[in-house]
Amino acid sequence: MTTTAPPASAPPATPRPVELGTRLVSLSVEGGVAFVRYDVPGESVNALRAETLAEFDRALAAAEADPAVRAVVLESGKPDSFIVGADVGMLKAVKLPEEAERLSRDGQAALARLAESPKPVVAAVHGPCLGGGFEVALACHGRVASDDPKTAFGLPEVQLGLLPGADGLQRVADRAGLAAALDLGLTGKSLRPQQAKRLGLVDEVVSPFIVRRAAAELALALAEGRAPPAPRRPRTARALALESNPLGRALLFRQARARAFAKTQGHYPAVERIIDVLEAHAAKGFAASREAAARAFGELVVSETAARLMGIFFATTALKKDQGADGPGAEPKPVAKVAVLGAGRMGAGIAYVTSNAGVAVRLKDKDDEGLGRGLTYIADLYDERRRRGSLGEAERAQRLALVTAATDYSGVARADVVIEAVFEDLALKRRVLAEVEAVAAPDAVFASNTSSIPIAKIAEGARRPENVVGMHYFSPVHKMPLLEVVRAARSSPRAVATAVALGKRQGKTVIVVDDGVGFYTSRVLGPYLNEAAHLVAEGAPVEDVDRALVLWGWPVGPMALLDEVGLDVAAHFGPLLVQAFGERMAPPPAIARLVAGGREGRKSERGVYLYGEAARAARGRTPFARGRGKLVDPGLYALLGVEPRPGAVPLEEMQMRCSLQLVNEAARCLGEGVVRGPRDGDVGAVFGLGFPPFRGGPFRYVDGVGADEIVRRVRAYEDRFGPRWAPAPLLVELAGRGAKFYPEG
Ligand code: NAI
Repeated sequence: MTTTAPPASAPPATPRPVELGTRLVSLSVEGGVAFVRYDVPGESVNALRAETLAEFDRALAAAEADPAVRAVVLESGKPDSFIVGADVGMLKAVKLPEEAERLSRDGQAALARLAESPKPVVAAVHGPCLGGGFEVALACHGRVASDDPKTAFGLPEVQLGLLPGADGLQRVADRAGLAAALDLGLTGKSLRPQQAKRLGLVDEVVSPFIVRRAAAELALALAEGRAPPAPRRPRTARALALESNPLGRALLFRQARARAFAKTQGHYPAVERIIDVLEAHAAKGFAASREAAARAFGELVVSETAARLMGIFFATTALKKDQGADGPGAEPKPVAKVAVLGAGRMGAGIAYVTSNAGVAVRLKDKDDEGLGRGLTYIADLYDERRRRGSLGEAERAQRLALVTAATDYSGVARADVVIEAVFEDLALKRRVLAEVEAVAAPDAVFASNTSSIPIAKIAEGARRPENVVGMHYFSPVHKMPLLEVVRAARSSPRAVATAVALGKRQGKTVIVVDDGVGFYTSRVLGPYLNEAAHLVAEGAPVEDVDRALVLWGWPVGPMALLDEVGLDVAAHFGPLLVQAFGERMAPPPAIARLVAGGREGRKSERGVYLYGEAARAARGRTPFARGRGKLVDPGLYALLGVEPRPGAVPLEEMQMRCSLQLVNEAARCLGEGVVRGPRDGDVGAVFGLGFPPFRGGPFRYVDGVGADEIVRRVRAYEDRFGPRWAPAPLLVELAGRGAKFYPEG
């Protein structure tokens, strides 16, 4: 909140500061309105601390006692954020459930006092208003939001394995309905201001310049009884029918539990507790729901799951501050313009995230057809967001206008970073690099999005190899959160830092990895997928393998993932891994037969499973095809020369063998310096591959189980299956010392 204009309806008044003796909260009175300002000193954003609510209380009491004050506005002292939630560091330090429960009860009590204040309180929200911050705003009598892209409302606690402990869920349910409360609570997603307004969670959306004034006006209007009634979400007849009677509500909760379980397999207790709280609220009322919330909050804060998820949170927070390179000259080069070569799925996705970050981007393809496809892809992504209401029309037009296109190198000369995403072909990539070097500025960074070619190979004949790095994005680029920036032996720290900084602007979590086949993520994925193929070759049914790993917490099973990656891509990549790292990376030989005959995975509708028309046709022919789930290609087993036998391999063995292959390869990568530390390795596996987040990533997983126990299991498999199970030297060393990857816990 940077505006200082007085409320329009009040006579101009000079702010009168009121001394409270507080550190985080200040108070000043202007034209009958008390402005309570939250500003945590020395931090760029506001988080809620243990002492915050007591300070709010003190400010509110002073405002209530002041006869000159008719209404209160709650605002933030930060230029671009309201309150981003509770201080996660404070929660992480809590050791006892009773301590966490107390935090929740204190929060509930303080917000109840706020909600019952005799003088109306309105939150003036500009910037993120999340978690505990949103709970504070919800307890106010009104909310005015800026229509700024930074302004967002949400209850992301579930992503940390927690629930909103200060009645936010119930307040959302009261205003926007149970379905909306379940949705916000269970997904942790953010709402744009207009979406929040449509749900009845925000009263007004105004320009950032007048948020403060509009909030003061609303507060005064509420005080004088002339405010319009708070908007409530117009509910559909179906929603009303469901939510307004006990049977309908029971159905709603049953469905929510079933859907949640299908997603989490019971690995995320917070999900169940969130549903419990809302169910208690609907069935037994506010008081009972608060009890349930406080107790659940206490349990969850000290749970293993929350500890792991908070670990990931801290890792990503630390990565945001990490430049990716250090030493002399490691300052990133400012980037005003990016060129993307190749307008395929990857190139278009990269151009989209670049323009979305407000950076001008020139897209180049070899022909108009390729360009047309790429531009349509980008426009469709923006249109979809416009339809969903997460992007205003002006923003959509502005961002789309940042993308220009050409079939020649015009425009590339002015680019600070050039990212190539042409076909995966070494000769072509080298040629493209030479063409770029001929026209680009001498200090322009050249980044390849190759998925399988070492960057040093592409840069072999380069004139300025120090400018060449890898930027390995994941598909689909606009959805996948990870970016691997690949540092080749000759890449300069400046080129690496520039790629890292650009990736962060594009909204990515960026890890820096060493050059080599598969970099980090694809390299650790190789043995994981291979082991799944070994299981199938041993007679484990495909569905059983996939189900086992989904039960372990992966979002999809490895065989289904193989179809997503593409069997052809895997068949191309597999031998490169073997060449680089030896026979331990070899899949079972029969797998090669799958690719023959055009079986490429989902994109050709035929892979391990059948899709689309191929699935419909096969279902017609196979009367006993199971349910509506995916259908394994009936010809698959004959091709592999194996008879599937349910129960051929015990469930836990399937889970362990696949996951431990990944864990073991990750430990090799760390030992060889491919990743800079366990933090990056964990973040890469969770965000790039979908390693179960509640397990914290491969390195945290080892720490949880114990390196000695992991080595014991790996050795047992080595005895049974041979050298592909040789334990990573780093694991053996750690086990020998009884040490951990994260000694600090
Ligand atoms: P694609 O085949 O969809 O797109 C490649 C585009 O490059 C086409 O539009 C083609 O016309 C264009 N092109 C070819 N030669 C060109 C030239 N000389 N100048 C300009 N444009 C040219 O391929 P996709 O999937 O987008 O992949 C591109 C790159 O990204 C490859 O190196 C691939 O290995 C890598 N990659 C792909 C991932 C995926 O999941 N598809 C994931 C990560 C990286």
